[in-house]
Amino acid sequence: MGRKVILFLIVGVFGAWYLCTPLPANTEQPWAIMCVEACLKTISKLMHLVELLGISHYMTGTNFILSFLDIPPTSDEYVTVVDTTFDNISVRVYVPTQKTKTLRRGIFYIHGGGFSLGSAGFYCYDNLSRRTAHRLNAVVISTNYRLAPKHHFPDQFEDVYNALRWFLRQAVLQEYGVDPKRIGVSGDSSGGNSAAAVVQQLRRDQDVKVKVKVQALIYPALQALDFDLPSYRENAHYPVLYRWFMIRFWSEYITTDRSLEKAMSINQHVPAHSAHLLQFVNWSSLLPERFQKGHIYKKPAFGSSTLAKKYPGFLDVRAAPLLADDTQLRSLPQTYVLTCQHDVLRDDGVMYVTRLRNAGVPVTHDHIEDGFHGLISNSLKVGDRMRNQYINWLSENL
Ligand SMILES: *[C@@H]1O[C@H](CO)[C@@H](O)[C@H](O)[C@H]1NC(C)=O
Ligand SMILES: *[C@@H]1O[C@H](CO)[C@@H](O)[C@H](O)[C@H]1NC(C)=O
Ligand SMILES: *[C@@H]1O[C@H](CO)[C@@H](O)[C@H](O)[C@H]1NC(C)=O
Repeated sequence: MGRKVILFLIVGVFGAWYLCTPLPANTEQPWAIMCVEACLKTISKLMHLVELLGISHYMTGTNFILSFLDIPPTSDEYVTVVDTTFDNISVRVYVPTQKTKTLRRGIFYIHGGGFSLGSAGFYCYDNLSRRTAHRLNAVVISTNYRLAPKHHFPDQFEDVYNALRWFLRQAVLQEYGVDPKRIGVSGDSSGGNSAAAVVQQLRRDQDVKVKVKVQALIYPALQALDFDLPSYRENAHYPVLYRWFMIRFWSEYITTDRSLEKAMSINQHVPAHSAHLLQFVNWSSLLPERFQKGHIYKKPAFGSSTLAKKYPGFLDVRAAPLLADDTQLRSLPQTYVLTCQHDVLRDDGVMYVTRLRNAGVPVTHDHIEDGFHGLISNSLKVGDRMRNQYINWLSENL
């Protein structure tokens, strides 16, 4: 009996220690977040081990586990769901079943997952797309794209762009009954990066006649020049996106060579010849005072130009939309940006808001004071709030 009690106590204490993550005081449903965090932490530790043993790349292993949470295209009474291909890129299409005489709005959605993980069929994303289609009576195209570590920039970008271009063709819009004047591009996290990047690319592309009406960027990653922003400093250890994890995602997007990751983690990867780009991510001039509080600006130290020559992707505007100059920003469509206080990517989004507004683009910025990264497609209460704000904005502006 005594031994059982001791064992119970040990397991209990160990369990509580493993589960407990220090969270900000304003966190809603802290235990639920700690549970999500503990699951992710467990998978992550396991995958580090698998990688260390040479069995599989960290991202490949993680994606294999996540793929068990994919669901097949399943229609219900409100929405018809099918998998198809657009220009050889696999996409999942959601069409409301309710008959209408008028054309519908169209939303082109790009899922997150650090350019390495996830799919349109992942149950959270499937749920979000389904809800969006139903709530807005809109056609939702949720695109897949090739992932790291097998594929690197610009493959992800190009897959998304090619699928979008295919969707914007007259014949395809007609087939799905989509109004060419009411099309939006949305994405979350790395998908928000791709959304911003392809919307910029569309403005440069003379061949595409249909233009998008709005873009919606949900806690997007927009730059890889400075990993010492206040948001990276403050939230480096908060769930679910640690600083090291985001840096791993960024470096995997560009290359599997871990020397880029090493340079990024000490914020010493921008070559001196790219110094002129730092103005576009300079938080001391682009962040409102309340996000700067208590932080002193330090310009990133210059890194090896050999490394940057070998892997120039992180300096490319198609990988880092914040690097667009003001002229390129000026012609962008009406924009929605959602940021979370407890997120390393917070300041990427906030700086894009400043830059777009300076360029005269109408922007709605929803900042979630008690928000964490990655929860828009989750069933937590804070995720519900984010989802409602995002979908309400689309409802009013698209
Ligand atoms: C289409 O994609 C498949 C695999 O996804 C690939 O094997 C094939 O070469 C692609 N075809 C073209 C025309 O790009
Ligand atoms: C999405 O998931 C929630 C539970 O997390 C469920 O209640 C809801 O019905 C789902 N929505 C759709 C449209 O499938
Ligand atoms: C960043 O902005 C601050 C304030 O506007 C300025 O003093 C500094 O020179 C800028 N640094 C870079 C690298 O752009």
